Amino acid sequence: MLENRRILLIVSGGIAAVKAPDLIRRLREHGAKVRCILTKAGEQFVTPMSLAALSGEKVFQDLFSLTDESDMGHINLSREADIILVAPATANMMAKMTHGIADDLATTALLATDKPVMIAPSMNVMMWNHAATQENLKTLQKRGIEIVGPGAGDLACGEVGDGRMAEVADLITALNTFFQTRKQSGPLSGYAALVTSGPTHEPIDPVRYIANRSSGKQGHAIAAALADFGAKVTLVTGPTQEPNPNGVAVVAVETAQQMLEACLAVKPVDIAICAAAVADWRVAQASDGKLKKTNGSTPPALSLAENPDILATLSQAKTDRPKLVIGFAAETENTLENGTAKRTKKGCDWIVANDVSAGFGGDTNTVHLITDQGGDSWPTLSKKAVAERLASQIATHVKQNF
Ligand code: PMT
Repeated sequence: MLENRRILLIVSGGIAAVKAPDLIRRLREHGAKVRCILTKAGEQFVTPMSLAALSGEKVFQDLFSLTDESDMGHINLSREADIILVAPATANMMAKMTHGIADDLATTALLATDKPVMIAPSMNVMMWNHAATQENLKTLQKRGIEIVGPGAGDLACGEVGDGRMAEVADLITALNTFFQTRKQSGPLSGYAALVTSGPTHEPIDPVRYIANRSSGKQGHAIAAALADFGAKVTLVTGPTQEPNPNGVAVVAVETAQQMLEACLAVKPVDIAICAAAVADWRVAQASDGKLKKTNGSTPPALSLAENPDILATLSQAKTDRPKLVIGFAAETENTLENGTAKRTKKGCDWIVANDVSAGFGGDTNTVHLITDQGGDSWPTLSKKAVAERLASQIATHVKQNF
């Protein structure tokens, strides 16, 4: 369950911070991507260098660092994660979380997050049993914060009792259980979804092809978001460098024709989302052998044939039409108007119209969601955030209409 999960690990200032390097190592062994925030007090126990070396990522420390803010603002830091894990969570950290105090990068990220938060308390037994900490614990639990541990045993201060941070293995189990449970009880659990992503490659000859610059980031993020919401997702993807999303069945194809066949084979599904940048045309007669360049000869002319339209085929299907078909519109001008026209032309229910004048492949997207109610313009968001917002709108629609 941890493969490709993005974990924002906040290391606060307790002796258990020395377990952070091992925790990062184990998380990465499970396929997770770990980014760290190290508090000032945490730095007394573990160095930013060791966390950076083990996570393979920059370690963020300072709320007012110009470089950190321009690399990855504190809001994005928490939005880009799938979960925030505070390990160790000191009594001070728990108190600040309870009262919404945001006086450093870690607490600001925690206050600004829209993501689940898990904490692994670690402190002296008297601090743990103190009425203030126990009240804070109850408040955090009531707010849905996941609490792991603490365990009982010898404490670093020499006393014995509750307060030992949960073992690394227990934290890994807790994260696995968290993602598993969320998937099983998600708002789209029981529904099947098909997502297309990436470019298609249309062969000219055995070694050359026509393609476009789609990276697959947007389509893959949508597949991941739907799976996180509990849907049974099949991702039909053209050639990309993107890792397969967690818990998603992936069918890899090359051409538009193969993509269509793969999509039809996945039917019936409840929801279909076509985010792939399918080539509109293919070479009518791809050569069986490599086209040769001979000195002085005229270059070969490529004669093109139209590819099948996968979105239109799914939208206009007479049998087993998915109850909700969503297309994308890649536009360089009049995005809203052209997207609205494309929705009618293709016969889909919704269109996500995006401005691609800056090209494909970036990490952000500016989209308008066009439905029969008109267009809703979203701010520029990361592709992951677009995917999560779209999944959330789909979940609402499914609840009201399916
Ligand atoms: O992959 P990224 O780098 O993250 O970039 C994301 C993206 C820009 C590719 C994505 O957000 C996007 O806009 N995808 C659709 C690209 C596209 O082909 O747009 P279009 O306006 O040409 O096509 C309209 C719709 O018809 C799309 O849903 C497309 O998947 C579908 N289509 C088009 C042609 C075809 N033969 N079959 C189709 O299904």
